[in-house]
Amino acid sequence: MPLYTESVITHTQLLLQDDLRAGLRADVLAGLRAEPKQIPPKWFYDQRGSELFDAITALPEYYPTEAERAALRLAAEEIAELSGARMAMELGSGSSDKTRTLLDALRPGRYVAFDVSESALDGAAGGLTRRYPGMQVDCVVGDFDRHLGFLPDGEDRMLVFLGGTIGNYAPGPRAGLLAAMAATLRPGETLLLGADLVKDSGRLVRAYDDSAGVTAAFNRNLLSILNRELRADFDIDGFEHVALWDARNEWIEMRLRALRAQRVRVEDLDLTVEFAAGEELHTEVSCKFRREGIAGELDEAGFSTIGWWTDPDGDFGLTLARKR
Ligand code: SAH
Ligand code: AVI
Repeated sequence: MPLYTESVITHTQLLLQDDLRAGLRADVLAGLRAEPKQIPPKWFYDQRGSELFDAITALPEYYPTEAERAALRLAAEEIAELSGARMAMELGSGSSDKTRTLLDALRPGRYVAFDVSESALDGAAGGLTRRYPGMQVDCVVGDFDRHLGFLPDGEDRMLVFLGGTIGNYAPGPRAGLLAAMAATLRPGETLLLGADLVKDSGRLVRAYDDSAGVTAAFNRNLLSILNRELRADFDIDGFEHVALWDARNEWIEMRLRALRAQRVRVEDLDLTVEFAAGEELHTEVSCKFRREGIAGELDEAGFSTIGWWTDPDGDFGLTLARKR
């Protein structure tokens, strides 16, 4: 058990503003030319997007956050014991709120919060050092599609990937991300992975199309980001939020549907795109998992599963896996 004496917060910026904008430009240029049109979900999270996501987690229909918290409460002590981790590195850490349940049991000497959203990291850091005086907190602004190689070295590290964010990757890119995670760890080090589980489709759709319209606002905020960051002129009221369950792929899909035909100018890309009435811009998949599927994908990536827990209702799964 480390002796906590003082708080240390470090900030590392792997994504400079220019770098961030270059990534956004490349993704939007490719995505608006693709068929169907699509934008990757990592661009949802400007300050407003991160606030809207936090509001989603408090919605009665959005069960994953509380289900994962319940699973973490049941599992945290065992996770600490089985992993023996002394350093936790959380990808897409957001508010790091649920993480506290894990940190209470793990008591690591060092916690790395890694997120593409600087505002989310800023919001999280102060609270963590107050609650865990003496624990070193490293805030890293980075993109886990590109910057896993910059994670700090250390001994007995645990990668933590909560919230079901792994589900925002379709199977092909997901295999790549899991392999990249394995490549950043030494044999024996661990990964804690949170994954939302397949369930009744009505509940799933309601979780992504809530009655208060918060998820719709989160989805449409993407267009405000494009208007501001790339000098685009999307008519935000001209698009409606769509959430549907794809039973074959076992994923929820979020889209933005053009209510009428429209021409959109994206000044910074020197690009004009046409949307037909009813045409949809694909903004997110949120895959839902089964226990055997997760274990198989982790095995394929070079991990051995050493622990599995769910919340009492079986809505959300936590896997602890060791790098072989
Ligand atoms: N882990 C938190 C937040 C989940 S929301 C929870 O369980 O509640 C997804 C988080 O991942 C957001 O904070 C978002 O900014 C971050 N994120 C999404 N794509 C990312 C990427 N490619 N690299 C780094 N962070 C990313
Ligand atoms: C971050 N991610 C796991 C969320 C999800 O459920 O797929 C993002 C989200 N999209 C709509 N609501 C929440």
